This record gives sequence, structure tokens and C-alpha cells, in this order.
Amino acid sequence: MTNLYASRITGTGSAFPKRRLTNLEIAQNIETSDEWIRERTGIVERRISEPGNPDELNSSLGLAAAKRALEMAGKRPEDIDQILYATASPDTIIPSTACWLQQKLGAKNAWALDMNAACSGFLYALTVADQFIKTGSSKTILVIGSEVLSTFVNWKDRGSCILFGDGAGAVIVERTTADSPSRIISSHLHSDGSFWELLHVPAGGSAMEVTAARHAEGLDKVHMKGKEIFKVAVKTLSDYAALALEVNHLKLSDLDWFIPHQANLRIIEAVAKRLDLPMEKVLLNIERFGNTSSATVPSMLDEAVRDGRIKSGQTVLMDVFGAGLTYGSVLVRW
Ligand code: ACO
Repeated sequence: MTNLYASRITGTGSAFPKRRLTNLEIAQNIETSDEWIRERTGIVERRISEPGNPDELNSSLGLAAAKRALEMAGKRPEDIDQILYATASPDTIIPSTACWLQQKLGAKNAWALDMNAACSGFLYALTVADQFIKTGSSKTILVIGSEVLSTFVNWKDRGSCILFGDGAGAVIVERTTADSPSRIISSHLHSDGSFWELLHVPAGGSAMEVTAARHAEGLDKVHMKGKEIFKVAVKTLSDYAALALEVNHLKLSDLDWFIPHQANLRIIEAVAKRLDLPMEKVLLNIERFGNTSSATVPSMLDEAVRDGRIKSGQTVLMDVFGAGLTYGSVLVRW
């Protein structure tokens, strides 16, 4: 069946908590150093939500990002007919963060749901939005990637806590005609649950209740096998970038910008090397924000759209991996 419609991103927004947490501050509490973190990850600082601050809840960061995206798109909250909220660190398990956001934003005509694909969540949600637009059932969709993972990080585990930060990114996706030059061109997603152990939070779901003893053991916090993830990430990011180019008959030189998930600068450099992609085409915000999980790609996208790096007619490849494992890429003509 040929589609009549395609999806176009018409607005972007992002938001971060105020507090900057530097490597030097982290090094005051655990055995690490600014130098080690910079060299091994490319991260200098990250933003951390203030516990209990209502303006820095996951849904509040999502709200601020959504308002900016709506403003750019020239849309009102009432125009939104669907909210897809990618997060692995919801305000509450019930109700969804999407519903918290909906009432804060006043998007009274929307239906809203959370999607959890960890760091890949934004591209998963964007792909779902694209499908609802293509079938004609939705016209204007708010897609958010937002995290306050600092509450799930074990700040005593130097192998993982150095990586993560809080933040949000949002886009407005609107219906356009299938032949529009500016549109989402393709999406390739995959999951492999057999790698669940590489990054997981054992307690806090229905499989394992959080008790005082389990909390003391850190079972309600992120458990990560960094070295193993590193290898899989380089492979999946490279494979899914190459797949998007191949399927669309594009050469690397046709690509204007590459926005990879920002988990570790060395992962990104290894992917660029494997693809033979010059680093000048890679958009990076990891130095300032660390790994904000589902927010890395939309917040980077927002920054580059607002500062004019991403221009109309350019080709942008977004590429992610995350816990699950989940991975994939989305190609967009801006
Ligand atoms: N400071 C100082 N030393 C450290 C630190 C630290 N913060 N962390 C680990 N080390 C030590 C280790 O103990 C080890 O010491 P040893 O050789 O005496 O045993 C040494 O440094 C090397 O450790 P490695 O784990 O091999 O270090 P590596 O270079 O792999 O870096 C890191 C670790 C940064 C975690 C890296 O593996 C990584 O970034 N992996 C990917 C993680 C990732 O992407 N996670 C996000 C997944 S996406 C999602 O959905 C959330």
C-alpha cells in the first residue's frame, strides 16, 4: 500500500536541570578523577535534578522541552492529538509520565502513553509517531525523550555513575504529504532481550519489590557491564547507520549530520572510524550533559536546529542503542 502521508518534524525543544555536577565533584566522593572520566568517556559535567524540586521532575523537564517545541512549530497544546513519552525513569509507575505531562501542558485533546526502550526510547517513539501519521490517524504528535536517571544511579559505583545526567528533548511531528522533501525517510529498529544483563535495574518492578535490605544492596539502582556494552554499542550503532544508508541508496557523503546516542565519546569515535565518517559531521553534546539516555538525541537535535547547524534540505541520521538491548536508526531530510 502506498502511503498518502509522511511525517515532518516542525518543532524541537530541550530542557535541563540547573545544577551542574562536575567530574571534580564526583571525584570528591568516589575513587576516580576528572582526568580519567574525560579521557575514558569525553564527559566533563552533567546536569542533575534537585530531589524534591517540582520544576525538575521528569515531567517538568519534558514540559519545558515540549513548550519550546510547540512554540517553534507554531502550535498550541490543544492541537496535539497524541503524546509519546520515552522514558526509563518515570515520575511514577502509575500514572504514566505522559499523563502527568498532558495535564501540566493542557493538551486536552491528546491521548498519552509512556514508552520504555531505555536510551533508544526517543527513536522508538518517533518511529511509532511516524506510523500513526502515515496511516492518517494522527496529525500532530508530541514526542519526548526525558530522564531523571540520577535517581536510579548508584553514586557509589564508579563504573557507571560517572556517565549519566538528567535532561529532556522534545519534537513536534506533523502530517505532510508522502512526496514532501522534508520528512522522516526511514526507520530501522531492533531489540535483543538476550542481552538484558548488560544494563538493568533488578528491583522496583513487579518481579522484585524494593525492600530496605534490597535498597541497602543497591538492587534498585542501575547495574551495568560497561565493557560488554561498549562492544555491542559500537557494532549495533555502526550496523544500523550503514543499514539506513544502504536501504536508501545513500553514500556517506550524502549525509550532512550524524546524531548518535551520547553514551561515551570513545564509542562514538569508534563508530565514526568504522563507518569512515569524519567527526566534523558528528553532533556532540556529551561533554556538557553526559548520557541523558532517551534525551541525548532530541536535545542534540534541538541544539543544532536552533544554532543553525541543521538547515532545511539537509540529511540527518540519528542512531541509538540502549538497555534491553534496543537499537536502531532513523533518517530524516530536514
Ligand atoms: N575512575 C577510575 N577508574 C575506573 C573508573 C572510574 N570512574 N571506572 C572504572 N575504573 C577502572 C576499573 O576498575 C579498571 O581498573 P582495573 O584495570 O584495575 O580493573 C579500569 O578502570 C578499566 O576499567 P574498564 O571497565 O575496562 O574501563 P573502560 O575503558 O571500559 O571504561 C566505561 C568504563 C566508561 C563504563 C565504558 O566501558 C563505557 O562507557 N561503556 C559503555 C557504557 C554505556 O554505554 N552505558 C549506557 C548504556 S545505554 C542505556 O540504555 C542506559
